[in-house]
Amino acid sequence: MRLNQKIALVTGSAGGIGSATARRFAREGATVILADRDFDGCRRVLDGIVAEGGAGTAHAADLTDETQVVALFSAIREKYGRLDILVNVAGGDAEPSATVEGIDVELMSRNFDMNLKSCILCCREATKIMKPQAYGRIVNMSSLVYRGSPGQFSYAASKGGIFSFTRSIAMALGASSITANALAPAIIGVEAFPRALGEERWKAMAEATAARYPLGRIGTPEDVASAALFLASDEASFITGQVLEISGGARL
Ligand SMILES: NC(=O)c1ccc[n+]([C@@H]2O[C@H](COP(=O)([O-])OP(=O)(O)OC[C@H]3O[C@@H](n4cnc5c(N)ncnc54)[C@H](O)[C@@H]3O)[C@@H](O)[C@H]2O)c1
Repeated sequence: MRLNQKIALVTGSAGGIGSATARRFAREGATVILADRDFDGCRRVLDGIVAEGGAGTAHAADLTDETQVVALFSAIREKYGRLDILVNVAGGDAEPSATVEGIDVELMSRNFDMNLKSCILCCREATKIMKPQAYGRIVNMSSLVYRGSPGQFSYAASKGGIFSFTRSIAMALGASSITANALAPAIIGVEAFPRALGEERWKAMAEATAARYPLGRIGTPEDVASAALFLASDEASFITGQVLEISGGARL
């Protein structure tokens, strides 16, 4: 097993990509710490992991709130005494259909907080545990729109921010044997899409998108979980400051 004996925190683990990542890590031997503002969702995912023979804990936390982030990491320190892996998955797009002229300050701030601030705060707190133990793997969730998007503005900016923040901490933390990398998925089929768009619109969008990708399909949460697993494992010990596009070849 590739993550035997590792303690791994996966944020956003009630959602599509986070839950797939937590399940995959548990199957690879990690003890998984699940954190999400959706505690019931988190609990359900943990129950499934435990039913498969895995181990971990579930935590409720709004990761845009500094006090709640600090409390989460204090709980981790108290229960486990260390943290080997942090995968920052929590996020989303609060402003998915804006025009440039129509950018809304409230939604823009929500995007920056939900994606960038939460990631920065979790990395800060994780570093306080990882630096003294001289070991850590940090995997942050960017998005293929870090390259820019004609339809997502504050979201793309927040994901671009995650890319540059990840490179910055990779430079600062390498001497402590902590790696930091980012994932940049294209469209991944998660339940949040049909929930937001309705089944029919989502199906049409997924088919049209798949036809544009060289590999002829959209991604699955498991595709992203596999990439997170690689970057979190010791096989990736000489890789840091990188962004890995999980995109079926989109935007080559
Ligand atoms: N699905 C895609 O096509 C896609 C593509 C590129 C990047 N991403 C990124 O992947 C990540 C996961 O997205 P997903 O597709 O699994 O969506 P999702 O909605 O299923 O999961 C997101 C999870 O993050 C949690 N979350 C959001 N804000 C939070 C907060 N403040 N505190 C705690 N938890 C919070 C939500 O409760 C949810 O469980 C996001 O960062 C998203 O931007 C998704």
